[in-house]
Amino acid sequence: MADDGDRHRQSRLFTDDDGAFDADRAREESLPVEDGEVIDTDDLADHQRYVEGRGIYDERNRVNDLTGKEWKYATKSVIAEGYPPAVQHDRRNEHGGQKPPRLCADLIGRFSKAGDTVLDPFAGVGGTLLGASFCEHEGTGLRHAIGFERTERWVDLYREVLEAENDERRARGDPPLAEQDMRHGDCVELLADVPDDSVDLLLTDVPYWHMDELEQTRNERETRESKLGSFGGAEASDATVDTDADDGGGSERTKAEWLADMADKFDRFTDAVTPDGHVVVFIGDMYREQSYEFLSADLARAIESTAPLTLAANLIWYDPTKDLHVYGYPFSFVPSMVHQNVLVFRLEAGN
Ligand SMILES: C[S@@+](CC[C@H](N)C(=O)[O-])C[C@H]1O[C@@H](n2cnc3c(N)ncnc32)[C@H](O)[C@@H]1O
Repeated sequence: MADDGDRHRQSRLFTDDDGAFDADRAREESLPVEDGEVIDTDDLADHQRYVEGRGIYDERNRVNDLTGKEWKYATKSVIAEGYPPAVQHDRRNEHGGQKPPRLCADLIGRFSKAGDTVLDPFAGVGGTLLGASFCEHEGTGLRHAIGFERTERWVDLYREVLEAENDERRARGDPPLAEQDMRHGDCVELLADVPDDSVDLLLTDVPYWHMDELEQTRNERETRESKLGSFGGAEASDATVDTDADDGGGSERTKAEWLADMADKFDRFTDAVTPDGHVVVFIGDMYREQSYEFLSADLARAIESTAPLTLAANLIWYDPTKDLHVYGYPFSFVPSMVHQNVLVFRLEAGN
């Protein structure tokens, strides 16, 4: 170790033309450099370890595998990334509510460790499962993922996507993505087979308010397109939702029922989550009936009211690549929704 200390001191001789310390050169010589300074590894505490190119990792970290430097970035409350179409996007797009697998991988990296188990009880075409597989090659290591999906087509499509993606990866010489455990059926029934305290991260994207009707019309393209306006963010300002208005407050009941259903389901899901685990939920707010529906806040409060979970953060996923449309101009301010919310819950102490 004395040698190490000497090497670090000598590294200060790496200077650029102006006599300033040349961190790039020091790094090229494989010396631990962080924030432009060579780290003297002798100064690290027993629980600290320098990870080449990534910074200092604290062995006490029970949340993720990130170093301090990576953690600083990962706790930013806004994720401002577009995640361009990838991973068989055109195939997955048949679903319509799919999430970018690499965004899922980023979230999985923030809230789990290599080898952990991730559950998505509303798995769709497998954004979470594909993200967990990406962690093997583009993160700190594979996570095992279990997905529940009640629509058989989406279960099949996940497998088709994985096969097509892996064909392309093999042709490029990249290692294949691991197949995850996608199960067909209702999430509450399938949950019975998942032992208590066995899931480190529950990452999901909830079926939206009114999603059921939309799913039934999925293959009737015309109907589908007209109805998408009822939950698709700013498009929701159109008149496709007046079935609720006709019955005088029906939308409130429908929303209340949806919230109660989600609250009940998340209460059940939480039994499967380890005490140190997290529950992370995608939810988009909406604009409908000329008012902003703060669904993220409503859902967070509903879940907290039943499940032993505490809201730790509301991350905003801002997608700078989203197309803008002109809504309301020139009479009324209608937001163009270019963000979604990512609710982060942790288990209440003692659960
Ligand atoms: C918003 S989508 C999830 C999309 C997913 N994140 C992806 O990347 O494909 C919600 C999914 O939950 C499924 N779903 C709704 N209720 C369910 C239930 N009770 N059990 C299992 N799946 C359900 C729907 O079929 C839908 O595919």
